[in-house]
Amino acid sequence: MNSLPPHLVARPAPVSRGVLHRLRTIGTLPAAILRNVWCARRLRSFPVARFGEFRVEPLAAGTLVAMARLYERLNHRPFAPDKRLLLAMLGSKLALVVRNEASGKVVGLAYYYFNARDRMEGTIHVGYSGVAEDVRGCGLGTFMRRHALANFAASGLGGVSSRISASNGASRRVNEKLGFIIVETYFDDELKELRHYMVCDLNKLRNKFPNGTNQD
Ligand SMILES: CC(C)(COP(=O)(O)OP(=O)(O)OC[C@H]1O[C@@H](n2cnc3c(N)ncnc32)[C@H](O)[C@@H]1OP(=O)(O)O)[C@@H](O)C(=O)NCCC(=O)NCCS
Repeated sequence: MNSLPPHLVARPAPVSRGVLHRLRTIGTLPAAILRNVWCARRLRSFPVARFGEFRVEPLAAGTLVAMARLYERLNHRPFAPDKRLLLAMLGSKLALVVRNEASGKVVGLAYYYFNARDRMEGTIHVGYSGVAEDVRGCGLGTFMRRHALANFAASGLGGVSSRISASNGASRRVNEKLGFIIVETYFDDELKELRHYMVCDLNKLRNKFPNGTNQD
């Protein structure tokens, strides 16, 4: 039988990393949703807090679109459908938005979730945290994270985990100010960069925030 030379043999198109990631996400979605519903059952919804001209509030269904829009602008990528679904279900316990009180504009966001490692280690993971460029450097990012830590500590969680790029000085500084320590440093093959895995032990903070808020 005549066989074709190797360069003429049709090969399946390579599957891109993005497609593989999406397929993996779809496959693991039911388990991720169940894990988050289960782990979040003991979390309180975030209380409202004020920081200068800003109001920090739990994510409500009507704010999800504005939050996703800010995420996409700051992070230059779409807000993933699996995260959208999770926050539509558990937004008030897992996500915060910051508004300018006068204009009502959403200028900050943070969301958290439980991954498999968090479930094992009694922590919750920082999914993303960001504030609009024009309000950075005035303490808002730190306030927002401290507010979340206070609520998680009062809810009885053991800690908060966070993955950051070694090049992200502001993010690392915010974490360090709040007591996170680096427990692992590794090279991320997908992102092609050095990253830190940081953890904040909430047991050390619990007495500091007895009301579940960083405000009196
Ligand atoms: C990370 C981020 C949320 C911080 O918000 P913020 O409101 O500016 O934070 P704060 O003002 O509370 O604190 C920032 C701290 O980082 C420091 N900082 C800023 N840029 C820095 C840099 N390049 N290197 C080191 N430290 C830096 C500031 O001096 C400040 O520390 P200080 O209070 O000791 O002076 C904000 O920079 C951001 O939205 N970045 C883009 C999104 C992002 O990278 N998110 C993290 C991934 S989840």
